[in-house]
Amino acid sequence: MASLIEKIQQIKAEIANLQAKNAEEAEALRIKYLSKKGEITALMNDFRSVPAELKKEVGMKINELKQTAMERINELKQGAAQQESAGEAVDLTRTPYPTPLGTRHPLTIVKNEIVDIFSRLGFTLAEGPEVEDDWHVYSSMNFADDHPARDMQDTFFVEAHPDIILRSHTSSVQARVMERTQPPIRVICPGRVYRNEAISARAHCFFHQVEGLYVDKNVSFTDLKQVLLLFAQEMFGPDTKIRLRPSYFPFTEPSAEMDVSCTICKGKGCSLCKGEGWLEILGCGMVDPAVLKANGIDPDIYTGYAFGMGIERIANLKYQVKDLRMFSENDVRFLDQFVNA
Ligand code: DAH
Repeated sequence: MASLIEKIQQIKAEIANLQAKNAEEAEALRIKYLSKKGEITALMNDFRSVPAELKKEVGMKINELKQTAMERINELKQGAAQQESAGEAVDLTRTPYPTPLGTRHPLTIVKNEIVDIFSRLGFTLAEGPEVEDDWHVYSSMNFADDHPARDMQDTFFVEAHPDIILRSHTSSVQARVMERTQPPIRVICPGRVYRNEAISARAHCFFHQVEGLYVDKNVSFTDLKQVLLLFAQEMFGPDTKIRLRPSYFPFTEPSAEMDVSCTICKGKGCSLCKGEGWLEILGCGMVDPAVLKANGIDPDIYTGYAFGMGIERIANLKYQVKDLRMFSENDVRFLDQFVNA
């Protein structure tokens, strides 16, 4: 009997001094004292031989001990868990969470889509400089010296070097490619262009274009039309129709502008297409022989087609963005809307 009481006191003293460095050590203590074969559980066996008149008092002592042990071990477990998470919280190299994810810019989404479609048709990517010379932007593209597009109203000139300009269209990349490659040429050229325009909802001093060029033997207008139909249907849906209207560009002959059936009303007429049923999306034509010649390609052997479109224009048709300025303001409330696009 006396030895049971001594044992209780001994264990009680041990419990008061328990320490655990981590959760595993705390669990080992629980097993040592409180599991089925634990030291406190074992006291219950000795309890059977306690005389009846002392059972109450000794029983209470054992229960008290069990309670204290449970509380102490739980305390140790909690302490260990806190220590572990505190260790994580001071990891200064960790990215702060939650990390807001950025979205792709709508113009990038549309550019990638255009480039993707033409890549599947065998076109490869070509790029050229935004700061260009007059030759690549105008002269080699068959613009006459007095062509109005060269005018100060349109082109940004570098004051000290009147020959150095910001390109006003990506057709300059056609010249860059032709001067260094002989046909077959099949390139798609996305990029930023600049025009000296007052900034408004409908015009900006910079915007983006994608140029296409195909030069080989026996390239015909039929090839151009077929590729553009395929592009329009991939971009705007399989029921999309196209229409080509005669037009004029210095670098193509014949030239045309292409419309697609309205993306909203499908041709019936609505406010987007101003009741027309058609939306203009690009300029195109057969590369003028003078352009081939100026860029070192023999027009008696080769023919080619070219086309050019505005990325903002196509993005507007896809997403109905009413104000062009939104594309360059970097307002996250605008950009966030393209998170799933
Ligand atoms: N460069 C023209 C523009 O900026 C677009 C264009 C029209 C490009 C017809 C072409 C083309 O390659 O064939 O408005």
